[in-house]
Amino acid sequence: QIKEKNLCYEINRKVGLYFYRNLTKKPNPALEYLVNRGLNPKTLASFGLGYAINSWDNLILYLQREGYQLSDIQKCGLIRPNKQNGYYDYFRNRIMFPIFNIRGDVVGFGGRVMDNSLPKYLNSPETKIFNKSNILYGLNFARKNINNRQMILVEGYMDVIALHQAGFKNVVASLGTSLTKYHGQLLKKYCDEVIICFDGDTAGIKATMRSVDILNEVECQFRIMTLPEGKDPDDFIKFYGYEAFKEQINNAISLIDYKILLAKNKYSSNTIEDKVKLAKRIAVIIRDIKSPIEKEAYIEKAANETSISKEAIKLEVLGKSKNIS
Ligand code: CTP
Ligand code: MN
Ligand code: MN
Ligand code: MN
Ligand code: MN
Repeated sequence: QIKEKNLCYEINRKVGLYFYRNLTKKPNPALEYLVNRGLNPKTLASFGLGYAINSWDNLILYLQREGYQLSDIQKCGLIRPNKQNGYYDYFRNRIMFPIFNIRGDVVGFGGRVMDNSLPKYLNSPETKIFNKSNILYGLNFARKNINNRQMILVEGYMDVIALHQAGFKNVVASLGTSLTKYHGQLLKKYCDEVIICFDGDTAGIKATMRSVDILNEVECQFRIMTLPEGKDPDDFIKFYGYEAFKEQINNAISLIDYKILLAKNKYSSNTIEDKVKLAKRIAVIIRDIKSPIEKEAYIEKAANETSISKEAIKLEVLGKSKNIS
């Protein structure tokens, strides 16, 4: 068991270096792609990015030359059996992102296409050493750089890497999967406050709402950072730069404020109908607040924002009417 795991670490490490060497052999489309996305050679090296060339057996042949057994390579999720009793390379014609565990061992890979074809990312299957639900991508780097005891939680590979290159080293990604309780516990262990910074799209909002439940469950402090519609952290940092991102972090909001913000976006017209719906929705949100002082403060704020009287909002908050959604 231990032996099998160690062999898998060894093979993955070799394969990571092999993909990296492919990337550094100029010219190639993968390097061109990554340079176009703004990554510099130092970043490529730190994250060990690589290139799986467009071949069905390039990796197989390499690993066999290195003396590895097909069955062992298969157990690492790098090759698959074909119908002719042979095997083919799982990752082909993709940008390769090695996925590290907290100690920095390569436990798996994510591979991205270089065009708009689907699936955009292909990830290693589960193996003895790789389980997506207990890996936070970037934690091996971030744990050494926990500025202000904060950890920035993002969705994807490129978000971690772009932020890192820009100077934010305390970033981890849940790799598109929803945050698990284990992820939550890891975050709690390594920082005092998580800044949730998911993509500014519907999927990002959904992921945020799921993550807050987990973080609350494990009693991990967090705030939520919002991004412009359609932008993710990688887009944002490229477009607006370090200082603007820093400011976004400082302006990250509480869950209550986030919920109110979502409601404001949903009921945004100036019609009486929307105003009423918004005020009612905010009342429901405020009803969940436990501290009476905090409640009072939010009622005040809600009154200012909806131009409905404090008294009316207070009554609505105290009311026993059922939740609207
Ligand atoms: N993801 C995945 N498989 C997919 C799509 C997404 O595993 N088919 C994971 C990847 O880890 C990805 C993350 O979910 O990084 C977030 O997805 P998305 O926002 O769509 O991609 P980006 O990270 O923004 O990728 P890029 O900037 O390269 O388009
Ligand atoms: Mn996304
Ligand atoms: Mn994204
Ligand atoms: Mn994208
Ligand atoms: Mn992106």
